[in-house]
Amino acid sequence: MSSRAEAFEHWIRTAFVDINTELEEHYFAATDRSQVTGVGEPLKQALQAEGHAHVLALLQEGNTGDGFQSGLGVLGSVGMYLAALRRHELTNPAREERSPFPEASALALHVGASLGMAPRFATSHLATHNRARAGVRKSFTRLRDEFLFIDENTRGILSLQLAADALTAIVHLGVSSPVADVMFTAARRSLEEVLRINTRLMEQLDVERFFYSVRPYYKPYRVGRQEYRGANAGDFAGINELDLLLGVCRANDPYYAQLLVDKMLFMLPADQARLRECMTYKSLLDELLELMPAHRHADWFRRNAQAYLEVCDLFGRYAAQHHDGLVSRFIAAPAATLEARSLEGITASGPPLPVLLRALEVLRDLRLGAARRDIATRHEDLVRLRAAITG
Ligand code: HEM
Repeated sequence: MSSRAEAFEHWIRTAFVDINTELEEHYFAATDRSQVTGVGEPLKQALQAEGHAHVLALLQEGNTGDGFQSGLGVLGSVGMYLAALRRHELTNPAREERSPFPEASALALHVGASLGMAPRFATSHLATHNRARAGVRKSFTRLRDEFLFIDENTRGILSLQLAADALTAIVHLGVSSPVADVMFTAARRSLEEVLRINTRLMEQLDVERFFYSVRPYYKPYRVGRQEYRGANAGDFAGINELDLLLGVCRANDPYYAQLLVDKMLFMLPADQARLRECMTYKSLLDELLELMPAHRHADWFRRNAQAYLEVCDLFGRYAAQHHDGLVSRFIAAPAATLEARSLEGITASGPPLPVLLRALEVLRDLRLGAARRDIATRHEDLVRLRAAITG
């Protein structure tokens, strides 16, 4: 990493965190916690000016050829800087046609394009590629609830990735393999761990702190002329690999295919490649259904179909927990108490909250294999498979 990139990163890990934390304490102490404009203006100006000096230095350096890790680091730093300016209402895509920060935009666009990623901070910056230094990882603030959120999110992502790795191994073994049990067990254990992580988050995260002091850093913002949606914990390939390998979502379903296309650039290039490859595989469910008529009474079929169904059920439970537990408790419920004005830009992806909630509900029901007439879930196929091994 160049010395300028390192200086920017050092600032992001120190003064930037201090200023954001102080601003959050001011907002949170006010009667109206959603009121940001007019509060702590000198701190905001300092944040903007200090970050700008780092951006200018890097822009003049103009060097993105310092290796992938270095470029990813710069994208994270400039992205977190822009996300904080958005959070403090120094920019707002609803009232602007282009970002008021052309230099930061230029830097983000340059680095983002050279890496093959969206020109904004991504989930990987705060999760899987958030490198700790002496135990401290990057964050926007020093608030307990932000660390809790990013740490548990990262644990959840890592565990879902382990489950996806395990199912990918079964693709290569074949679903009829006698040794697939090792990988079904690994996937099951990883998903059980995700359920525990989400339960901890549900119990320990403070609703108000999350809603007013953590979530606002994930709002959409403009880079140059274009608005980019916020990062969310789903921006990694593993979650969709699980969808596709279990067969509960299909890459040729127009709704789901659109979702995959939309998220591609928010993922690391290595994840983009994994997801593309996964889209070429036949799902484990389709493989089992093809084998079912001829082999339903075979021991191996019963064993592997049973193991598949256990993993599938756990994945459905994870999806239900995310939606009915996390999203409803930490986003839908507090949003219901806010006036329409304060709700603008509350979701990371940008659409109005009811639209986002409906979209997340569709995902939940696909993953649950729920009986719905309006969307093509695998409900009936799962019922057939279950009946074949119990009958
Ligand atoms: C307080 C905790 C959490 C809340 C409130 C929350 C909320 C949300 C919301 C609202 C979205 C939609 C993104 C948007 O705004 O456009 C989303 C997406 C997503 N989140 Fe979470 N989330 C939380 C924690 C987690 C954790 C711990 C995981 C992983 C274990 C996770 C996995 C996902 C995934 C995979 C997506 C992408 C959509 C999908 O494929 O399901 N979330 N989350």
